[in-house]
Amino acid sequence: MPKYKGVVDSLAAQLRDGRWPAGHRLPTHRKLAADEGIAVVTASRVYAELEGMGLVSSEQGRGTFVRDLAAAAGEEFDQRSVAVDALDLSFNYPAVPGQAELLRQALRDLAAGGDLDALLRYQPPRGRDQDRDAVARHLHRRGLDVGREQILIVNGAQQGLAVTAMALFQPGDVVAVDALTYPGFVVLARTLGLEPAPLPVTEIGPDLKALEQLCRRRRVRAVYAMPTLHNPLGWVLDHSQRAQLVSIAHRYGVSIIEDASYAYLVEDAPPPLATLAPDLTVYVSGLSKSVAPGLRIGFIAAPAALVPALERIIRATTWHTPGLTTALACRWLTDGTVDRLEEQKRDDARLRQSIASEVLAGLGGVGHPSSYFVWLPLPQDARPDRIAAALADRRIAVSTAEPFATTSTVPHALRLALGSVGIPDLRNALPAVREEVDHDPFR
Ligand SMILES: Cc1ncc(COP(=O)(O)O)c(C=O)c1O
Repeated sequence: MPKYKGVVDSLAAQLRDGRWPAGHRLPTHRKLAADEGIAVVTASRVYAELEGMGLVSSEQGRGTFVRDLAAAAGEEFDQRSVAVDALDLSFNYPAVPGQAELLRQALRDLAAGGDLDALLRYQPPRGRDQDRDAVARHLHRRGLDVGREQILIVNGAQQGLAVTAMALFQPGDVVAVDALTYPGFVVLARTLGLEPAPLPVTEIGPDLKALEQLCRRRRVRAVYAMPTLHNPLGWVLDHSQRAQLVSIAHRYGVSIIEDASYAYLVEDAPPPLATLAPDLTVYVSGLSKSVAPGLRIGFIAAPAALVPALERIIRATTWHTPGLTTALACRWLTDGTVDRLEEQKRDDARLRQSIASEVLAGLGGVGHPSSYFVWLPLPQDARPDRIAAALADRRIAVSTAEPFATTSTVPHALRLALGSVGIPDLRNALPAVREEVDHDPFR
């Protein structure tokens, strides 16, 4: 075994055992080389391997740091946990290079110029006027014409969905959801004692005839929809589908919860449902996918009549979002940083999607050209669990259809998140996915 492998193994074991706290700066490459009796280039290789294993992060010009392993992604209860040294194709937290540096600079600017005392006090539950103005201007660029009086700032889109659901529903209410949908909404609906009623899906959208039939049969309180970039199927509803959905909602008095968490990835999308049916639609989005999930900044744009109820629930639960991150996020909304990151991530997603369609050609994968995920249907006799387990053995985490399915029979498919690993890792991981799918003995 080459000597450097021994050094990698020993450091990896110590890092996993928690020998150093998260954020601890490790010795320079030169110092590590001297300590271990290896060349400096070899020490750099050691750190590169540890970085590839997800144990350390290196920052240009600053050094190598111990990663916070407890904060590894994919720990949500509706998602399988992901080994820290695995390539994570199960959960999306897209980042472009330099985001940590952006944060460092923004914190410096805030410290130098902001009214920090104001950030230490309680804030209005729906956010300060100037912050809600910044959100309203941002949403305007997405085709939403709302003033700040209709905006509420929340702790991520997930809290936006939770607050909306608490304001709209009583236990037992029926909410129409896609047969394959974002798992966080289903967890929420079940937690609140709602009845999620699945709508059959096609590659281009939900079966709207089935929605109409459901509304005729049952008292449907709301429909949960992702018209602009559906997770996991990647569809974008066209004008006529949107008009149809809105017409059903109007005729049957059904509210719409429009989740636009991934809408920023689609340029020139048709108007949001909230623009077509402003009196019925609660629009929920956030900065997790366009900027960073750790900020926990999301927003709701709601019909004016619903705002007091939403505000009361925010007051009763979290009171408001943390002032510091809200100020930071709104600064980025105002100075063009968010627009820039969105553009970079659109390009990044396009590149990743094109790599996926090249590597997975012929397997029938479904994905919008600028989205961060691929839905890979498998033949009825394939074994998605076995494929996911075989990939886990190869240190690649993927999701099966299970967490996304709202029907009792779960379709055979894999859902691949393309946004969380580096491009070279993606190029390595996707062929392995293809191999396992191709070689599945039950295919
Ligand atoms: C469709 C959708 N909605 C909402 C969320 C929650 O995002 P946030 O981190 O803003 O709470 C996610 C996260 O994956 C998502 O995919």
